[in-house]
Amino acid sequence: MYRSHSCGELRASHIHKTVKLSGWVQTIRDKGFVIWVDLRDRYGITQLVFDEERTSKELIDKTKKLGREFVIEVTGEVIERASKNPNIPTGEIEILVQELTILNESLTPPFTIEDDTDGGEDIRMKYRYLDIRRNPVKESLIFRHKVAMEVRKFLSDEDFIEVETPYLIKSTPEGARDFVVPSRMNEGQFYALPQSPQTFKQLLMVGGMDKYFQIVKCFRDEDLRADRQPEFTQIDCEMAFVEQEDILNIFEGLTRHLLKEIKGVTIGDFPRITFDDAMRKYGNDKPDIRFGMEFGELNAIAQHKEFGIFNDAELVVGIAIPGGASYTRKEIDKLIDWVRRPQVGAKGMVYAKYNEDGSFKSSVDKFYDQEDLAKWAAATNAKPGDLICVLSGDTTKTRAQLSALRMEIAERLGLRKSDEFAPLWVIDFPLLELDEETGHYHAMHHPFTSPKPGQLELLDTTPGDVKANAYDLVLNGNEIGGGSIRIHDKETQAIMFKHLGFTPEEAKAQFGFLMDAFQYGAPPHGGLAFGLDRLVAILGGQETIRDFIAFPKNNSGRDVMIDAPAFIDDEQLNELSLKLDIKS
Ligand code: AMO
Repeated sequence: MYRSHSCGELRASHIHKTVKLSGWVQTIRDKGFVIWVDLRDRYGITQLVFDEERTSKELIDKTKKLGREFVIEVTGEVIERASKNPNIPTGEIEILVQELTILNESLTPPFTIEDDTDGGEDIRMKYRYLDIRRNPVKESLIFRHKVAMEVRKFLSDEDFIEVETPYLIKSTPEGARDFVVPSRMNEGQFYALPQSPQTFKQLLMVGGMDKYFQIVKCFRDEDLRADRQPEFTQIDCEMAFVEQEDILNIFEGLTRHLLKEIKGVTIGDFPRITFDDAMRKYGNDKPDIRFGMEFGELNAIAQHKEFGIFNDAELVVGIAIPGGASYTRKEIDKLIDWVRRPQVGAKGMVYAKYNEDGSFKSSVDKFYDQEDLAKWAAATNAKPGDLICVLSGDTTKTRAQLSALRMEIAERLGLRKSDEFAPLWVIDFPLLELDEETGHYHAMHHPFTSPKPGQLELLDTTPGDVKANAYDLVLNGNEIGGGSIRIHDKETQAIMFKHLGFTPEEAKAQFGFLMDAFQYGAPPHGGLAFGLDRLVAILGGQETIRDFIAFPKNNSGRDVMIDAPAFIDDEQLNELSLKLDIKS
């Protein structure tokens, strides 16, 4: 037996007990006549004490050999501490050690194993197993576990069955590139790793499973960001004999459950907004509604004066920055520089100060009088003391630019509070999205999403107008999940593939199995998937998912700890019938 108690467990009530603890040496304070060692395990820290009066010389000598991160086992008596530490749960006691065994030595770690470490991101990634010993990382992993357990509990109580689906499959398009795996036994052929279990969960509905879920790894070869990893985890769900409303209700329930159980937050109103309204009000299909600053469209009131830039624009749109009227000229110029950065891409910004005395001062006073500007204030919901910022140009681009400004200002003003939670559904997404580069339409969600009833015909005339039975769950400005009601008949699915540019042969080769299955009594069905990493990060008050993944990849998709991906040797390449020109 290595331990009778954990390092986070002992209290004053244990005084006089003999205990055995095992763990890592956190710190050693050697005062000559007395040595204190902080012993750490997953559960906490317990102070060990060795002193000249009560500890044998042999044991003291052994203690002097200890170094940081050595793994030791000690037996000793729980005693009351002379100077108590109210900051830790074990702070009233210490262990007067009688026996010490060094279970393993340790090299000096390349960074301090403290909450505030001196190690940079790169070194911590390389030695991730040491980083995991630090409280913030350890706590994040435990937090993730708790969320996953609550998800399983809730869905299982709702009669969902967790079913595993295969990883070695054929491409399931979710809009990214596939990671592929060469097959040794089938020369020249490749499996694709699933971008999601989409087709399999639909086949489970054909199989009568009715309510399916799976906490499952998905793989997508796409550009990485703070909220994206090449392999990530979904809470993937599907239900048969349901309409959109049934699905929204269940997963609203799951979200409420998680917020209540994990954060102690009760969500009142669970708003819904259409995609079109989200774009109009926030310039974004994943609006952060923890704060206002809604867009006000100004075309009707700002065009047809003498101001050519607005007159030529497809959209003139503004927001009111709370308290912004007090910004100095220099501060406003900085804001203009910010929207003109290439990452945002605005050409310029018009502004109007709404002074506390009710008057306006704008950068376009030549063209707009006080009455005009009062209309801008009404449209942007500005209050005296605010700064109205106006962008103009192409609708899609201008909305994206103003949305970026809105989020930046909210961040600067501290309006994106990590302990506040504002979920909402974005519904009625367009079925198709135009790819500006190729001029072709592709599925906005995925090719299995059904158009809204009666809209199939529009595919031939105005495909961009067709709305889908598709929805996203947004939490604090992040897309946490998305799903749809699916097509469940072969004919409609064939029409969809045709509009997505597949020939019937291509559709058959890639998705024949699904179309075949639809001929054997496929029930109406639909579902959704939550991104577990994102959900956990946001519940944890952060937006970087890497912190909540035990062994994440860096921004180049590399695991720097195990040094992957890596070249493989010629023998292995031959076996896989692969030939490569590049060599390390
Ligand atoms: P979708 O592609 O919207 O839908 O994915 C669902 C959710 O998964 C998360 N997500 C990611 N998280 C981390 N890294 C990534 N690279 C990444 N990509 C996606 C997001 C997203 O909302 N099969 C459909 C679901 C369905 O229709 O039922 C699907 O995969 O939080």
